Amino acid sequence: MKYLPINFLLIIVAFALIAVDAKFPDDPQPCKFGDSNCIIQSFNYYLAEQSNGDSSIALVNINPLKIKKIIIEQHGESPVNIKLTFLNNYLYGLNTTRAYKSRKGFGKDLTKKIEIRLKSDILMMIGDYEVDGKILVLPITGKGKSNLTLIDNDCIMQFSGTPYRKNGDTYMKVNNMKLRFKPKQLYSDFTNLFNGDKELGDNMNLFLNENWKAIFDELHDKIAEAFARIYESVITNVFTKYPYEKYFIE
Ligand SMILES: *[C@@H]1O[C@H](CO)[C@@H](O)[C@H](O)[C@H]1NC(C)=O
Ligand SMILES: *[C@@H]1O[C@H](CO)[C@@H](O)[C@H](O)[C@H]1NC(C)=O
Repeated sequence: MKYLPINFLLIIVAFALIAVDAKFPDDPQPCKFGDSNCIIQSFNYYLAEQSNGDSSIALVNINPLKIKKIIIEQHGESPVNIKLTFLNNYLYGLNTTRAYKSRKGFGKDLTKKIEIRLKSDILMMIGDYEVDGKILVLPITGKGKSNLTLIDNDCIMQFSGTPYRKNGDTYMKVNNMKLRFKPKQLYSDFTNLFNGDKELGDNMNLFLNENWKAIFDELHDKIAEAFARIYESVITNVFTKYPYEKYFIE
């Protein structure tokens, strides 16, 4: 027991050394503030090459990205009145996502709005679901496994940063994220709809796939909102690793 303080001291010294050594990785090279092309390339490097996570910038595994819980709930005037809960889902395909345009943002003033456009060949969300409600006058209930697959999804992502101080340095938290999704196609497959009634379930899946566009448009804002909170936390996490200015060079 009496050696504990010394061990403790060593640990503190070790941490201090690590802290001194901690700098933004130089592969890829850090971008200049506000250099859109470089920022796009950097995004794409992490999406394509480091999608299983990169602890050097606190990027979590995004291929697949674990999604513990999403609730999509819509009531009122909409023809899609529904409570849709997804539990323990995994999102596959973020590694097929590429940024292709970026406007403003990541300048010295981290509070300026950032816009990035992204395209994903495929995004597939698999896991448990529960649903109860009405879709275009048809009642729907069920609890089972679901597969929602977006094909060729175009996404406009906007957010801004909020600064916070830690140990005398300025860090960035990502806030006010807004997403706009435009997929070419949405395939969905829900098992065990209507307590496992196969005929009703098959018909409903057919109906959902034939009318995907109208249903997606109705639910778009709620879906985008749910994903914005998830993406926000992934990007915020990346910026917890170093003070904001360490991610860029002059
Ligand atoms: C994305 O990751 C999956 C494995 O989850 C792999 O099969 C696929 O080839 C990858 N696609 C790209 C474009 O990297
Ligand atoms: C999910 O659905 C897509 C589109 O129908 C399909 O290509 C994919 O194989 C399905 N994935 C699983 C795990 O069922």
